[in-house]
Amino acid sequence: MAPSNALVDLRSDTVTRPSPAMREAMYRAAVGDDVYLEDPTVNELQVRAAALLGFEAALFVPTGTMGNQICLRLHAPPGSEIIVESRAHVYEWELGALAAVSGLVPRLVPSERGLPTWEAIAAAIQPNVYYRTQTALICLENTHNMHGGTVADLPEMTRILREAAARNLPVHLDGARLFNAAVTLGRTVAELAQGFSSVMVCLSKGLGAPAGSLIFGTQAFIERARVVRKMFGGGMRQAGVLAAAGLVALEEGPAYLAADHANATWLAAELANLPRLHVDITRVETNIVMCDVTQTGLTATAFCERLKPYGVLAGPASPTTVRLVTHRDAPFEACRQAVENIRRFLTDIL
Ligand SMILES: Cc1ncc(COP(=O)(O)O)c(C=O)c1O
Repeated sequence: MAPSNALVDLRSDTVTRPSPAMREAMYRAAVGDDVYLEDPTVNELQVRAAALLGFEAALFVPTGTMGNQICLRLHAPPGSEIIVESRAHVYEWELGALAAVSGLVPRLVPSERGLPTWEAIAAAIQPNVYYRTQTALICLENTHNMHGGTVADLPEMTRILREAAARNLPVHLDGARLFNAAVTLGRTVAELAQGFSSVMVCLSKGLGAPAGSLIFGTQAFIERARVVRKMFGGGMRQAGVLAAAGLVALEEGPAYLAADHANATWLAAELANLPRLHVDITRVETNIVMCDVTQTGLTATAFCERLKPYGVLAGPASPTTVRLVTHRDAPFEACRQAVENIRRFLTDIL
């Protein structure tokens, strides 16, 4: 039980510390130089993860951002367009890397809950005329971070994949939190990854690893991805110490997610009952809660700053929205404490 003055960090599910089993595995990891393909633990992680997601091959990368950007680079030539949802991580939170690093042009498509309809995507595909900018890739995100951890509707996603395949358009999945989506839908990650040309999954979010993500594709795609990873500066050496934690994350991480989701649902309902906060509880499907703070008269940034002394850390997701993310290092008791502290904070400022 967290003492009342303990800091509850709900900024992100990336703040988790490695579990005792992870630290033990890191300590014991067999390692080698992964640039020479000689790290047995990295190799084991890649083989195991590829089987889990139903892909021919996987590649361990330092971050989700690098994983996404390697895939974008491989699918789309410089000067081509990629269709992305308006609030996609690859567009809003990767510092313009798709343009700066790979020379790509984002074609934004809005959506209600994070997954654009096929009609909206189809309307954004450029005509296949040589003097027009060409559409090279569609990028989807599941769960969708900025829409509040929403899970992509499976029938619509399947339809998008089918229609894109019919037009020879590759589709990349930013599945940083794909395991969360799988838990909510009661599906396997393989089912949710099926049909994508490439997938990126993070080990360092809800699964709890200290670092690392994986990208998935055909054997040929992953061989090309290894070259781009090196070009981007992501060729790590004795990375087995990190991969060892990743293997534990794949093993023990998914079991924690249902509790994270239940805590987020509870947190959202409690916050929705507090004065001047607005939470759309129908959007809380996984471990993310978006809270509109407009009525408090504070910007989201000011709200988070002023909340800090009350022992709760949260992050601004837009000028008016505060994001709270549940994770394995903030169990129910910590969430309960956070609500109490936010209640006290609101009483003081209103
Ligand atoms: C949806 C999504 N994609 C990609 C990333 C990037 O991961 P990383 O922080 O490891 O670069 C994040 C990180 O929060 C994310 O939420």
